[in-house]
Amino acid sequence: MSLVVTGATGHLGRLVVEGLLAAGVPAGDIAAVVRSQEKGAELATRGVELRIADYSAPATLKDAFRAGDRVVFVSGSEVGQRVAQHRAVIDAAKEAGVALLAYTGVLGGPDADFALADEHKVTEQAILDSGLPYTFLRNGWYHENYTQNLAPVLEHGAVVASAGEGRVASASRADYAAAAVAVLTGEGHENRAYELSGDTAWSLVEYAAEVARQSGKDVVYRNVTPEQNREVLVGAGLPAPFADILVDVDAAIAKGLLARGDGDLARLIGRPTTPVADAIAEALK
Ligand SMILES: NC(=O)c1ccc[n+]([C@@H]2O[C@H](COP(=O)([O-])OP(=O)(O)OC[C@H]3O[C@@H](n4cnc5c(N)ncnc54)[C@H](OP(=O)(O)O)[C@@H]3O)[C@@H](O)[C@H]2O)c1
Repeated sequence: MSLVVTGATGHLGRLVVEGLLAAGVPAGDIAAVVRSQEKGAELATRGVELRIADYSAPATLKDAFRAGDRVVFVSGSEVGQRVAQHRAVIDAAKEAGVALLAYTGVLGGPDADFALADEHKVTEQAILDSGLPYTFLRNGWYHENYTQNLAPVLEHGAVVASAGEGRVASASRADYAAAAVAVLTGEGHENRAYELSGDTAWSLVEYAAEVARQSGKDVVYRNVTPEQNREVLVGAGLPAPFADILVDVDAAIAKGLLARGDGDLARLIGRPTTPVADAIAEALK
């Protein structure tokens, strides 16, 4: 039996592996599902077992899991292809007989009313249909979705979005990773869904004010129409279909769909969640 992390070379998965090691799990008890030996090389040197598999190639998933494994299944990043990919992962986990499949979905689960949530909803249902013991880690928005884009914000003195006065209860990736570690190493999480979000919901006006305060520059929130937002995102180099998805997320934020604060994240990690101000400070370093 191993503690298995898929997407282990991604931002979130890497933090989950680091968290397991920091929690004292021996490296030999951890398996990282990665797309290539090369990508996983650094983990392998630390004694983590590599299992090479691609969600898009079901045959490669045959050796990704073993009976009794407890798995953090990090959702794929190829929007539009994830239903087939995730079904292949679930089939492989079922075939192997894993003891727990903890899936990183999206805040609100079946009630999340925006396009980006669609593939997560189908995946959760497929996991329920599989009969496997599961945990739904319904992650809210990452702080880093905003703080990784500070350079253009500082350059133009504006946070541009079409989220109106909507609030976002975001948390850091590290907090979501800590929740996954708690579920993988703890007891009593079988067949439960956690609505994971930050303790404090903030508005983009407040976010821009905090960036201004910390950077010492003039930064304001410029609320634009969804069409203008799409133009800005496409102009910044995003593929049009992905720009549409992000504009749709802003509409969801405007409706308050990413603001819910159930407290599950703080309870799971045993401490308050990291404030967005800390993520801004980190990004400004
Ligand atoms: N809550 C949020 O705000 C938010 C924001 C963005 C994304 N997400 C979701 O959360 C997930 C984790 O976030 P993240 O920041 O860690 O994203 P990320 O850095 O893009 O990591 C995604 C991981 O999934 C792996 N992966 C993608 N397609 C795969 C495939 N076909 N077969 C095997 N592995 C595959 C990637 O492998 P490689 O390392 O080989 O590329 C990577 O390790 C994302 O994939 C996405 O579903 C959530």
